[in-house]
Amino acid sequence: MYLGIDLGTSAVKTVLVDSAQRVIASESRPLTTASPLSGYCEQDPAQWVDATFATLDALKATHASALAVVEGIGLSGQMHGATLLDASARPLRPCILWNDGRSVAECRILEQRWPALRATTGNKAMPGFTAPKLLWIAMHEPEVFAATKLVLLPKAYLRLVLTGEAVEDVSDASGSLWLDAARRDWSDAALAATGLSRDHMPRLVEGCAPAATLRSELAQRWGMIRRPIFAGGAGDNPAGAVGIGAIRAGTAFISLGTSGALLAPTSRMAANPDRGVHTFCHAIPAMWIQAGAILSAASCLAWISRLFGIAEAELLAPLGSRPQLPSPVSFLPYLAGERTPHDDPVVRGMLDGLSHGTDREAIVQAVLEGVAFALADCRDVLADAGIGIAEADAIGGGSRSRFWLAVLASVLNVPIHRFAEGETGAAFGAARLGRLAVTGEAIDTVCTPPRRIETFEPDRVLVDAYADRLPAWRELYRPRQ
Ligand code: XUL
Repeated sequence: MYLGIDLGTSAVKTVLVDSAQRVIASESRPLTTASPLSGYCEQDPAQWVDATFATLDALKATHASALAVVEGIGLSGQMHGATLLDASARPLRPCILWNDGRSVAECRILEQRWPALRATTGNKAMPGFTAPKLLWIAMHEPEVFAATKLVLLPKAYLRLVLTGEAVEDVSDASGSLWLDAARRDWSDAALAATGLSRDHMPRLVEGCAPAATLRSELAQRWGMIRRPIFAGGAGDNPAGAVGIGAIRAGTAFISLGTSGALLAPTSRMAANPDRGVHTFCHAIPAMWIQAGAILSAASCLAWISRLFGIAEAELLAPLGSRPQLPSPVSFLPYLAGERTPHDDPVVRGMLDGLSHGTDREAIVQAVLEGVAFALADCRDVLADAGIGIAEADAIGGGSRSRFWLAVLASVLNVPIHRFAEGETGAAFGAARLGRLAVTGEAIDTVCTPPRRIETFEPDRVLVDAYADRLPAWRELYRPRQ
């Protein structure tokens, strides 16, 4: 039996997976974020621990005999967050999250101080990444910086609490800007540019390698017979890739979670940092992931649902299963700024083309189309890096909408595949990594693709209509910095 724990932004989700790779139970507990100032986004690490414990306590209550025989645990997590710990491994302040835009100036300073940043990390310094956040802390909260003894990404903090060991996997570490992505090791030059050294960093392992062991008192609390082994685990997107078997070059997938991404595994780095393409080590050895990352995807749907005071499913129902024509309204999904391709944390969203005749459906459709257009921008910058997308799988909460996948197929002009719900997602991928760390099985035999239940083909009329609309949609973006 294996556990996958996904420390997301809006929830911690824990799945219990058996040796036949069936999800036999799943528990999730919500998390909240705080925005002390516009553009800031923080979370209290204590919430991660409480939520994780609550999911495991609940599994103990309902599935005690299965939990008792868990052998391996995989963690996946929201990437890039800066969790700063003092000498007693206590958080010094709330974690600054992946969608926090405060460190614009520090990105420029970092790139000036260390001109090899893009070549070494495969990434551009953007405020979402971890290193510029540390420079911001050094400049604005020097006492916190001085007291910082260990810098962990969110899931590494959770692992520290659960196991007592500070270990990080290379996929999540790639989002820090401190990793030499080709060598899959910390870069001393990168760390020095932020006033840090390896002493501030956790030990690095591959995502499917053993990393640590659950504390004995916690194994007892959850009635586990043996202390399970933790795998390195992965950032949420690489873990999602493992979950759907996207482990070889030539595959691509779209993640429609709080954030969104178009991701392609590669067998060598194919970076394009100047256009905002992200380079991550994959969660399996000798593979990388190149990605276009957008900051708001399913969160745009959540926003419009809050605005209208109508549940998402109810908002989507009148749209049917596919669009007839593009909405007369256009939407820029930059509700939290944007990474790929603009690297503009201060830009904000926009609805354009409203009239007396605009109804709710037109606005909801425009919101879904706006996210699809943003993913078309991601497709184009990946193409610049030599990565063509011929088809894509869709994962994440947003992939439940057949209408949205139909829009994406026609905007991107590629078939989009959907999986049966349940045995996909970052938590499931993490559980697979937990299994690999214990059994040492061949990766290909464990990381198989789930069954595709539906394919959305591009619709000729819509493909042309969206291709006509895309340039005008792009024109709506006006850089504010
Ligand atoms: C990826 C990214 C997000 C977060 C939260 O670069 O910032 O996917 O990991 O989901």
